[in-house]
Amino acid sequence: MDKFIIKGGTPLKGEVTISGAKNAVVAEIPAVILADEPCVLENVPDIADVSISLRILYEMGADVNKLGDGVYRIDATKIKDSIVPYELARHMRASYYFLGTLLGKFHRARVAMPGGCYLGDRPIDQHLKAFSALGADCSLDNGMVDINADMLIGSQIYFDKITVGGTINAILASVKATGLTIIENAAKEPHIVDLANFLNSMGADIMGAGTDVIKIRGVKHLKGTQYAIIPDQIEAGTYMVAAAATKGDVLIKNVIPKHLESITQKLAKIGVNVEEYDDSVRISVDGPLVKTSIKTMPHPGFPTDMQPQFSTLLCLAEGTSIVTEDIFNNRFRYVDELRRMGADISVEGRVAVIEGVGKFSGAPVTAPDLRAGAALVIAGLAASGVTEIDDIYHIERGYENIEQKLRSLGADIIKKSVPGSSVRKIEAG
Ligand code: EPZ
Repeated sequence: MDKFIIKGGTPLKGEVTISGAKNAVVAEIPAVILADEPCVLENVPDIADVSISLRILYEMGADVNKLGDGVYRIDATKIKDSIVPYELARHMRASYYFLGTLLGKFHRARVAMPGGCYLGDRPIDQHLKAFSALGADCSLDNGMVDINADMLIGSQIYFDKITVGGTINAILASVKATGLTIIENAAKEPHIVDLANFLNSMGADIMGAGTDVIKIRGVKHLKGTQYAIIPDQIEAGTYMVAAAATKGDVLIKNVIPKHLESITQKLAKIGVNVEEYDDSVRISVDGPLVKTSIKTMPHPGFPTDMQPQFSTLLCLAEGTSIVTEDIFNNRFRYVDELRRMGADISVEGRVAVIEGVGKFSGAPVTAPDLRAGAALVIAGLAASGVTEIDDIYHIERGYENIEQKLRSLGADIIKKSVPGSSVRKIEAG
């Protein structure tokens, strides 16, 4: 398994450019199947989840051509089958978006049950509720989710729980259904708005994305399109926190400041300087950081995908901070790893009590999942001494060229390939 070796203590300085949003692109690549013509996607991040998604399309018969950095032309019109290859799908939670898109296009889908529960329970009952509301029969057998519908009729879908994946799958399944679908208690994340904009550029009729009521009038045909994916709000937030943790001075470019509001407000509250421009934010620190409390919530609340990174930063703030993880029931697995670096955190269920120890010392640690791995990188950058991070494939699922981007900011980080390895596991995310 590859490792990151980080020699910490250098303040990050300079400029970094944010890549396309992972949680948007993993929905938009499968959505290309809905089009009756080829599509061109731009600002596609070079991350493992994209490689798997494109590979699934290719294995199903699509033509996938890389036209340039982050630019792909995808012709999925040749896809006739609606079964996603098990071996690929089982590795990536987002493969469940092929359920909604194949159901929406072919009225049937057969996809592996999404991957493991690295963040706690991650059922898909609300996805299946949405498919059933549209007229589909859903069943589970041999680890596969099987969905069939004679026809898809627009319907009212009320989510019992706010779910990003469920909202996205409901949109994908209903965009070509007959009649009007109304999704209530919908998730409002930026990547849901981006998916709606992408589909509308193909001729879909989706209104209200970004609010908790989304209305979709089914259309018969979706044409090809050329579309640039929004910047990744979580990648941006991760670099904002890394700049603060190393007491650096970094301009983070290619962002949408409105998508970062909850992160920006929390950083300012603990004493970080945040300067907002049209499509960039500048982070600097010129005094001590102070404690705060955080509770993760659906957008526009504080994003759960920033919880590990921000909790790491709070270890360097004065005082005792409280972090409540209200989305997932097991998202503190990184705490044991941070303790090896000197953190003083106690976890009780969904609440972490973080003592501001003020510093980290380098140590060998292992990334338990994508955002926890990013948190360990931040801790290593701020630590005195050397930190070795194992299982970095988790991190590379969602962060394009992270070591190059950090090196360009002055970080002492290298990737070391370790000969021989255990079977590569890719966790859900
Ligand atoms: C998406 O996961 C993201 N993944 C996650 O990002 C993100 O943490 C999460 O949304 C919340 O923002 C992708 O977009 C690929 P949910 P998803 O459905 O769709 C429960 C990352 O680091 N729930 O909004 O799986 C669920 O158990 C990853 O980039 C049900 O009970 O999240 C959870 O407690 C990690 N039944 C809560 O809702 C369902 O049918 C929110 O889950 C679906 C979800």
